[in-house]
Amino acid sequence: MKILVAVASTYGATHELAGWIRDALAEAGHSVTLSPVEQVEGLADYDAVVLGSAVYIGRILTHARQFARRLESEFAPKPVWVFASGMKNVTASPLQDRYAQPQQPPYFGGQYPIFGGRVDPGQLGPAERALAGFMGSHGKDERDRDTIEAWARRVAVQADRASVA
Ligand SMILES: Cc1cc2nc3c(=O)[nH]c(=O)nc-3n(C[C@H](O)[C@H](O)[C@H](O)COP(=O)(O)O)c2cc1C
Repeated sequence: MKILVAVASTYGATHELAGWIRDALAEAGHSVTLSPVEQVEGLADYDAVVLGSAVYIGRILTHARQFARRLESEFAPKPVWVFASGMKNVTASPLQDRYAQPQQPPYFGGQYPIFGGRVDPGQLGPAERALAGFMGSHGKDERDRDTIEAWARRVAVQADRASVA
């Protein structure tokens, strides 16, 4: 299956995480492209999309929400998986079956896994640093590569099923 991993990332942590997803999907035999949501081209050529975004101030990034709307109008009913990365409300058991299922529109409106993210104070301005400190997430990398790759392998299995259905 030809899969697009589309990602919205401000400081690169979610983009790197999406790269782990891309690699795991490719190892499972899919043809995978990783792209920032703002730079996606040829959307109609893909068979499936995995869309991910960082969470800032309780919200999915604007570019990701805009891309979700684009998927809803241009891509559905092809399968779409969704994930987020953040430091709060991280999904305790992201490998449950329900998180491996494609989402129904509106994307980001249903149950998707939130993977732990990373905050690097060195990348932040004073206001953002204060906000991150307030959240208690200073200088932490809570991304769990093994779990993220395991989730991607589950998505790969579901994508195989979708392609024979
Ligand atoms: C200023 C700021 C605000 C944040 N707000 C939230 C938030 O509301 N909820 C959350 O879960 N994570 C929050 N985070 C954590 C980020 O989502 C996390 O660091 C993410 O991995 C960053 O991804 P990125 O490097 O791809 O932009 C915040 C981080 C910063 C620096």
